[in-house]
Amino acid sequence: MFMMGSFKNFILAFLGGFVLVHLVNAQDQADFISISCGSPENSSYSEATTGINYISDAAFIDTGISQRISTVYMAGLQQQAWDLRSFPHGIRNCYNINIMPGTKYLIRGTFFYGNYDGLSKLPQFDLHLGVNKWDTVKIENVSVGVIKELIHVPSQNYLQVCLVNTGLGMPFISAIELRPLNNKTYVTISGSLALFSRYDLGSLSRTVYR
Ligand SMILES: *[C@@H]1O[C@H](CO)[C@@H](O)[C@H](O)[C@H]1NC(C)=O
Ligand SMILES: *[C@@H]1O[C@H](CO)[C@@H](O)[C@H](O)[C@H]1NC(C)=O
Ligand SMILES: *[C@@H]1O[C@H](CO)[C@@H](O)[C@H](O)[C@H]1NC(C)=O
Repeated sequence: MFMMGSFKNFILAFLGGFVLVHLVNAQDQADFISISCGSPENSSYSEATTGINYISDAAFIDTGISQRISTVYMAGLQQQAWDLRSFPHGIRNCYNINIMPGTKYLIRGTFFYGNYDGLSKLPQFDLHLGVNKWDTVKIENVSVGVIKELIHVPSQNYLQVCLVNTGLGMPFISAIELRPLNNKTYVTISGSLALFSRYDLGSLSRTVYR
């Protein structure tokens, strides 16, 4: 009996895992917006560890330069961190992303320096949502990514994500991800929520971002 029970639990766990992966692949992604900044125009790929489909950022911005991190930092990184777009010109450079107005979104910016410019100089710059400052991005380690997250209900049918040069190094960005949330999650009286920390309780593996 014990053996049977264990086996059943194993099968359930196995099927549960399969269904989750299947959902991410087939259904849940429908309204995801997953932008791989600096990837070649019109290109797309499925990230091997998450099954999430990323598309090039070229359709969302006219400025900046496509760059790739040093190959020594690529091992073990999700592919959206391999390429990035840097902004040598102008104080403020913005992405324009069409979204569903009135929908609550998790908005995530990823910044992985990886010595893409060969200068080994860690930059600091600001991140804005439209005209409002979202946060300061301070790169403190060549091989450690910075992730900024916000839960926000955009009022327009587009979102502007802007990188602002504050004289402390050249702005860049690796990925922009938007995940629609149920409007009953993380209800606030006013304003938006920024990520302080996320814990996967009970997990034995490292933090997983989807
Ligand atoms: C990307 O796709 C658009 C629309 O199909 C096309 O006009 C453009 O030439 C393509 N760009 C590249 C670099 O293939
Ligand atoms: C950068 O991060 C790596 C990996 O966590 C660590 O091994 C290294 O010591 C860090 N470098 C500095 C200068 O803090
Ligand atoms: C959440 O969405 C539902 C259905 O779209 C809507 O009826 C409801 O008013 C929304 N609630 C909030 C708090 O926005």
